[in-house]
Amino acid sequence: MEIDVFTLFPDAFGWFQGQRHVVTAVSHGHRLEYVNYRDHTPLSAGQVDDTPFGGGAGMVLRVDVVEAALRARYARDPVELRRDRRVIALTPAGRLLDDRLASELSREPALTLLSGRYEGFDQRVIDHFTSDEVSIGRYVLAGGELAAMVVCDAVLRKLPGALGHEDSAIEESFSEALEGAPEYPHYTRPAEYRGWRVPDVLLSGHHARIRAWRLEQSRLRGGALDPPTAR
Ligand code: 6GU
Repeated sequence: MEIDVFTLFPDAFGWFQGQRHVVTAVSHGHRLEYVNYRDHTPLSAGQVDDTPFGGGAGMVLRVDVVEAALRARYARDPVELRRDRRVIALTPAGRLLDDRLASELSREPALTLLSGRYEGFDQRVIDHFTSDEVSIGRYVLAGGELAAMVVCDAVLRKLPGALGHEDSAIEESFSEALEGAPEYPHYTRPAEYRGWRVPDVLLSGHHARIRAWRLEQSRLRGGALDPPTAR
């Protein structure tokens, strides 16, 4: 997998880039790279955004600036690029990221994530240059960088080998293996703490019973969620 993140703040990804599953994914040949819109702006003084037509607060990322950055990276007209590459605008109003979307994206050979800032993108970026619009929740962040990291994190940990332990991403919260329900509870030593005991079944060594208990716990937790999450 090859992920390009377009951003005005590539330095914001320094911490993320050092996370173990990211380092592991990169060592397996996956790529995570950054393109700074400002490095490719055709405008003077590094200008990338402008005030909104019709008035209003904030600044809007310009369509010509986004096009220049995409062309610099892919040497193609972005209107055509989006036909064979997932080009994703990160916006609060986009399709909500969930386990299903993360899995879907993890099966792509390449992703482009466009982070906006200020009041977001000129609508023509979304209408003509992107294949998808993705949101990480119904609240507004000051910029798409955190959202881009969330998408990358959720996608990269699904790639084979990224977690070191092959099974960890299969039977986890919201996965198909758990029928979309949250994961079962985990316990570790000590087996008793302040009188709080770990469920006996987990200490029994009885794999079939442990498995049944875990699935039951996962289902019970799932029943407590809103229908869209429990799908
Ligand atoms: Cl993708 N961007 C911004 N700016 N805010 C958000 C978001 C994205 N998802 C939820 N809130």
